[in-house]
Amino acid sequence: MANSPRPLVAGNWKMNGVNASLDEIYKLADKLKGGAYDCNVMICPPATIIRAAKKAADGSRIEIGAQDCHTQQSGAHTGDLSAAILKDAGASAVIVGHSERRADHGETDELVKQKAAAAHSQGLVAIICVGETLEQRKAGETLEVISGQVAGSMPEGCNAQNTVIAYEPVWAIGSGLTPTVEEVAEVHTHIRKDITSALGDAIGGEIALLYGGSVKPTNAEELMAAANVNGALVGGASLKADDFFGIIQAYE
Ligand code: PGA
Repeated sequence: MANSPRPLVAGNWKMNGVNASLDEIYKLADKLKGGAYDCNVMICPPATIIRAAKKAADGSRIEIGAQDCHTQQSGAHTGDLSAAILKDAGASAVIVGHSERRADHGETDELVKQKAAAAHSQGLVAIICVGETLEQRKAGETLEVISGQVAGSMPEGCNAQNTVIAYEPVWAIGSGLTPTVEEVAEVHTHIRKDITSALGDAIGGEIALLYGGSVKPTNAEELMAAANVNGALVGGASLKADDFFGIIQAYE
């Protein structure tokens, strides 16, 4: 399978994960031992266990990321977490603009862009999420919506070292539904064109494009083989080491 851009399989634990869940990280680290997987592996647990997760992943290839950050690095923002705080806790990346945050907290492309810039300024990889709703897909607006989100959510200075883009159709998240491989390839190829025309081939061609939305061990291989798909952002199936490992095996 294509190894440039370097694929990433990232687990988004969302609002799931307590100390006991660290067992899944130990289990996954054990499963990954000795195997050759042509991808990076990351888990994004709730912020409260980032430090412990980092420790649990110690000595393994598992990286630890966060799920959101504020646009500022410190200040009077009760309950929020900055990229600087997440980095201090042990995160090397942060998801920004997930559709659940766009929906639950009214996050706009402009806000997501500022969050990504805040992540970059701390040396964190920004995993920028985009995706259309079912209504937008049915109305034939998918590519236009995705282009708008990509252009609006990427700050200046994005490159393959500091940015990953995740295409996650809103209707595919947690639903068990997925687009066809052709539909995934169409959107990913469209994003690739957009970012290469904005950033040039050398940069735009190397930014990893993840697919997310109901990725499971049973469909991972097919989805990961689609054109311009460089990994997965996995929700539900990342919570158990067995399932998540089954997805990583698409890169065996
Ligand atoms: P899912 O979630 O794998 O549970 O569909 C994906 C995501 O929201 O990142």
